[in-house]
Amino acid sequence: MRTLTRVIDLRSDTVTEPTDPMRAVMAAAEVGDDVYAEDPTVNALEERVADLFGHQAALFCVTGSLANLLAVRSVVPAGHELLCESQAHVARAELGAHATLFGVTTRNWCHPRGLLDLAQVERLVAPDLGPYFVPTAAVSVENSHNFGGGGVTPLADLQRLRAFADEHGLAVHVDGARLWNASVATGTPMRSYGAVADVMAVSLSKGLGAPVGSLLLGSAQVIADARVWRKRLGGGWRQAGVLAAAGLHALDHHVERLAEDHAHARVLARACGVDPGSVDTNIVVVPCTDAPTVVAQAQAAGVRVGAVGSRVLRLVTHLDVSAAEIRRAADVLAPLFR
Ligand SMILES: Cc1ncc(COP(=O)(O)O)c(C=O)c1O
Repeated sequence: MRTLTRVIDLRSDTVTEPTDPMRAVMAAAEVGDDVYAEDPTVNALEERVADLFGHQAALFCVTGSLANLLAVRSVVPAGHELLCESQAHVARAELGAHATLFGVTTRNWCHPRGLLDLAQVERLVAPDLGPYFVPTAAVSVENSHNFGGGGVTPLADLQRLRAFADEHGLAVHVDGARLWNASVATGTPMRSYGAVADVMAVSLSKGLGAPVGSLLLGSAQVIADARVWRKRLGGGWRQAGVLAAAGLHALDHHVERLAEDHAHARVLARACGVDPGSVDTNIVVVPCTDAPTVVAQAQAAGVRVGAVGSRVLRLVTHLDVSAAEIRRAADVLAPLFR
């Protein structure tokens, strides 16, 4: 039972709990053994999401990190490199999995909001020069960008990257954990985002409010191979249809409403002295002098915010925070930034 005074959790959009209607479809889901590819609800989810982004096939994975790992593995051979932005989740927050498990190194471009900067990519790309330098195999773009404050790379820039990648024999990976937010914020069709990527990962467990799950998207061959690697890594699952049902429900009911989260993020930005015009989606990054102190002060007043550095806070709006709670959070946070 929720009351008006419950703690308002703005640390992440992963903290949402399944709604009652979502729990009902999970309980009623038709299931089978997904290691045998016999779970009808998982199969329906994979077909639907692949079609949504115009890719041949999809693989339902337990996390976005696993989907990214399998995606990058499919386009970057061991001893080759992936170019990505310096604050990208694949570089910063997947605990070195790409290097540890698959021999992938990264080099980075820097953008204050995490966006693609093609001029920097062009300077970074290393052709295969034989036994001297690590050759570049792929470029990864995170859209929207988590640690960059939910920034959205415009479709036109992604299309320019696609053309550049084709010219240089590179693959494009899109970490689309929050690509739904980018699509709703800009009106860009999911298929247009799908068309620029060889492989991509999209999450159901962030803004869409499902409890678990991400999808890897790619060609039929990439997905068949990734299915083997998912099992090899211990990520094969059985009656996962109960989770896929939550994802299907989220696709039906929780995509368009992301616009509300984006409006809420702008309210919080204003309260914290951040230009709301710089907030593209549901994440607000707030510079401050002492992040842990502000986190503690906000928590004492019933609002949880996250520190993503000693001087940077991150506020994330989501399905489980109402408009009234956003107003209350803004009232709590504003004095802390004055
Ligand atoms: C941009 C981005 N990619 C990937 C992930 C990984 O998702 P998961 O936590 O499901 O592994 C996250 C998690 O927050 C993310 O923000």
